Amino acid sequence: MSRTPDLAVRIGPLRLKNPVLTASGTFGYGDEYAHVLDPKGLGAVITKTVTLKPRAGNPPARIAETAGGMLNSIGLENVGLERFRREKLPKLRALSATVVASLGGETPRELARLLEALGGEPGIGGFEINFSCPNVARGGAIYWAHARRLERTLAMLRPLTRAALIAKLSPDVTAIAELARGCEQGGADAVTAVNTFVGMAVDIGGGRSRLGRATGGLSGPAIKPLALARCHEVVRAVSIPVLGSGGIMNGRDALEFIAVGATAVQVGTASFIRPRAAAQVVEEMARLLAERGIRRIEAWRGCLEPAASPAPAAGRRA
Ligand SMILES: Cc1cc2nc3c(=O)[nH]c(=O)nc-3n(C[C@H](O)[C@H](O)[C@H](O)COP(=O)(O)O)c2cc1C
Repeated sequence: MSRTPDLAVRIGPLRLKNPVLTASGTFGYGDEYAHVLDPKGLGAVITKTVTLKPRAGNPPARIAETAGGMLNSIGLENVGLERFRREKLPKLRALSATVVASLGGETPRELARLLEALGGEPGIGGFEINFSCPNVARGGAIYWAHARRLERTLAMLRPLTRAALIAKLSPDVTAIAELARGCEQGGADAVTAVNTFVGMAVDIGGGRSRLGRATGGLSGPAIKPLALARCHEVVRAVSIPVLGSGGIMNGRDALEFIAVGATAVQVGTASFIRPRAAAQVVEEMARLLAERGIRRIEAWRGCLEPAASPAPAAGRRA
């Protein structure tokens, strides 16, 4: 009988019992799913992105199904800092799960104000800074796609919390490796690669976008090979942990991301199809490793054969 492998991983100061987190915006504020799965069994729950003021989000339609995926243009609808602190945080604490709060801002100063308010709150093990929303007019993926801006912003945020600081990046950039290096230099404990890819779908009957806006963010199985390649690129660019995100539906997908060097993975769209998906990823991952006689997830990480890796990216550390 094979032993259950040790799945524990570290993200900066945060120790996770396993490397599976829920992706921001796909698991509410954590408590909504508590009746179908115990979030304590997950590595961590990442909340919906919270902004200083409440946001109503974008006009409908906000979701469109596509081949192998979905487009969303939610536009960071959220309850805002005050309600998050007053209503959501006590519920999150009651779950006794590891919680990572996702924060979004239109400027470095807005992010600093959020972290000044939440940085020392008990019950939050880490913060994922959403530098990558494709669905907002200001403070979205395009605004944050500058390595120096990311570096300066993270350097400003770093002293505001002792919890883990994770920077979430967009795949729709010229050089994701450079952005990841900016985050590392600014003091991030980890980088998440990647948020959704900008996509479109047209209703040819009405001659209009199938979303309330022209474009949305594509997620789900359709993006997995693209996300995996971005994740691989980021892993080779930095020495801090990388969290893989994009199309992870099962334990096999998760092991692919960890094989290219991700320390942890996030389960997003899969939870809309199967609300227990994140817990199932943990179970499948453990079974697949045990079948291979692997006792620690660390032994699997980065196991991609060197021959399968392309030449080092320019500027990569030795
Ligand atoms: C409906 C929806 C809402 C999302 N909201 C957020 C969000 O608020 N903040 C964020 O950082 N990412 C958000 N995302 C992106 C996911 O966290 C994840 O990075 C992306 O969907 C790719 O993973 P997946 O293919 O497993 O869904 C959202 C995705 C979806 C589908």
